[in-house]
Amino acid sequence: MARRTTIRTLQQLRDSDTPITMVTAYDATFARLFDDAGVDALLVGDSLGNVIAGFDSTLPVEVEHIAWHTAAVARGAKRAHIVADLPFGSYGAGVDTAVEHAVRLMKAGAHAVKLEGGAPFVETIEKMVAIGIPVMGHLGLTPQSVHKLGGYRVQGRGDAGDALLADALALQAAGVYAIVFEMVPAPLAKRVTDALDIPTIGIGAGNGTSGQVLVGYDMLGMNDGFKPTFLKTYASLADTIRDATRAYCDEVKARSFPDDDHSFDA
Ligand code: KIV
Repeated sequence: MARRTTIRTLQQLRDSDTPITMVTAYDATFARLFDDAGVDALLVGDSLGNVIAGFDSTLPVEVEHIAWHTAAVARGAKRAHIVADLPFGSYGAGVDTAVEHAVRLMKAGAHAVKLEGGAPFVETIEKMVAIGIPVMGHLGLTPQSVHKLGGYRVQGRGDAGDALLADALALQAAGVYAIVFEMVPAPLAKRVTDALDIPTIGIGAGNGTSGQVLVGYDMLGMNDGFKPTFLKTYASLADTIRDATRAYCDEVKARSFPDDDHSFDA
C-alpha cells in the first residue's frame, strides 16, 4: 500500500521543486478516485457550501458539515493528505473555540485544518500548532470575507502586494506548514513563494507557486455555468452525466431496462 502523504512529504516536494497537486473532495467516492489518480492532497473545502449545498457563498457552512464530509473523504482516501476547512465563524471568536473546532475536524479524520486570513490569526494558529494540529493558511481572495472584499475579485494588486507578503511571513512565523493563494497576480504569488520556506498552493495565482489546487467539480467540468479565467476543465462530466441520465430515462420509459441480464430469475 502506498505511503500516506504528510506535511513532511509536501515540504520535500516543495524543496525538490516538484509541484504539489491538491483538489477539493467532499465524499468517499471522489476521494477514492482522486487518491487512485495520485493527487497529493485533498481539501474538504468550505466550497462544499457552493458545489454540494447550492448556496451562493461559503458563509452558511458549519463545522458539523465539514466534519461529516471530512469523515467521508477519510474513508475514501488511503494515501492523500487530507485538509479540512474551518468554516466562516468557527475560528474568529476566540482562540479556545477555534481550537475546539479544529480538534473536531481532526477527530473526524483530517490531517490538517485550513483557515482564511493573515496576521490577526497568529495567536490562534500558534495554539493549534502547539497542540499538534497542522494549519494551512489561505490568503488573497478569502471567500469567507466576500462581503468585506466587495465581491470575488483579484487581490494584492499594487501596494496591497506588500501587505499580502507581510501576512504570509506572519503566518509562516506562526507555524503554518503551507499557504493557499487564491486569485492573486502571478508575479506576486511568485514573489511571496520565493520569500517563504514553506509550500504555497495557488488557485488563480499563476505557475510560480509550489503547487496548485482546483475545486474538484470545477476541474471535472461538472459546473458548466462557472468559467472563471483561471479554471481549466479536464473533462466535461456535466455533459456525460446528463447524457447518461437521459439514456437511463429513455430505457426505463421504453421498458428496455431492466432487461433479463439485469433481473433475477424466479
Ligand atoms: O473551499 C475551497 O474549495 C477552497 C479552495 C478554493 C482553495 O478553499
